[in-house]
Amino acid sequence: MRYAISGTSRGLGLEFVRQLLARGDTVEAGARAPSEARSLASLARDAGDRLRIHPLDVTDDASVRAFAEAVSQAPVDVLINNAGVLGKWKVFSELDYEDIAQVMDVNALGPLRLSEALMPAVLKGTTRKIVHLTTRMASMAENTPAGVYGFAGGSYAYRMSKAALNAGMRTMAVDFREQGLITAVINPGWVQTDIGGKMAPMRAEDSVRGMLRVIDELTLINSGSFFDHEGQEVPW
Ligand SMILES: NC(=O)c1ccc[n+]([C@@H]2O[C@H](COP(=O)([O-])OP(=O)(O)OC[C@H]3O[C@@H](n4cnc5c(N)ncnc54)[C@H](OP(=O)(O)O)[C@@H]3O)[C@@H](O)[C@H]2O)c1
Repeated sequence: MRYAISGTSRGLGLEFVRQLLARGDTVEAGARAPSEARSLASLARDAGDRLRIHPLDVTDDASVRAFAEAVSQAPVDVLINNAGVLGKWKVFSELDYEDIAQVMDVNALGPLRLSEALMPAVLKGTTRKIVHLTTRMASMAENTPAGVYGFAGGSYAYRMSKAALNAGMRTMAVDFREQGLITAVINPGWVQTDIGGKMAPMRAEDSVRGMLRVIDELTLINSGSFFDHEGQEVPW
C-alpha cells in the first residue's frame, strides 16, 4: 500500500514511517525541512524507493500543491494528516490571537488543504482512506472541570483547532461518501513526543501500532468517526 503522511520529521509522523516501512508499505513523507530531518533521512538509506521525502509545509498553498503534484503520479491508498502544533497554553486572561490563528492554520486548515490537493489521488487508491490526528482535548463531551489526562480548561488554540478539524472531517465524510472515501479522526493517546512531553505515559511505538490497526480496520460503515488509538469511539 502507498501512504502519504505530513509532519514526518519527528514524533508520531516519524514512527508511522518507520512502522509502515517495516511492514513493507511505501511512504511519501512530507517534512517541513527535509535537510534537518536526520532520523527520517536515516530511514531512507535502507528503504530504497519505498520512501521518498518531500518538503511540505501544510500552511503554504504552494508547498501543498508541489507535494500533491510530486506524489499524485500514482494512486495514494491512505493519507495521514499527522502534522500539528500545540500552541501556547494560555489562560483566558492572556489569549494570544496571533498564536491561535497560527495553530488554526496548521491543525485545522492544513489537513483540509492537503486533503483537497490529494483527493483525486486518494479516490484512485485501493482503500480510499484519509485519517487525521486529533486529540481528546477537542471532545466537547469530555471538556469538563474534570478534564482529560488531568488537564482541565486552557489551551484554547489547540482545543478549538482540533474541534474545527473534527468538523471538517465529518463534512468530508458526508461529501465523499458516495465516492467511497473512508475518513476518521484518531486520538493517539497522550504520547512521549515534543507535543506530548516527557510526562506522557505512552511510547510513540505503541500509539502508532494501535493507530495503524485502527486505520487498517476502518470501513465505510464507521467512516466519519472519532476513535482513540485502541479503536474505542470517543464522544464528540
Ligand atoms: N503526542 C501527543 O500526546 C498527542 C496527543 C494528541 C494528539 N497529537 C497529535 O499528533 C500529531 C503528531 O504530533 P506529535 O506528538 O508527533 O508532535 P511533534 O513531535 O511535535 O511533531 C509534530 C510534527 O508536525 C510537524 N509540523 C508542525 N508544523 C507544521 C507545518 N506547518 N507543516 C508541516 N509539518 C508541520 C513538525 O515538523 P517540524 O519538525 O518541521 O516542526 C513535526 O514533524 C499532531 O497532530 C498532534 O496534535 C499528539
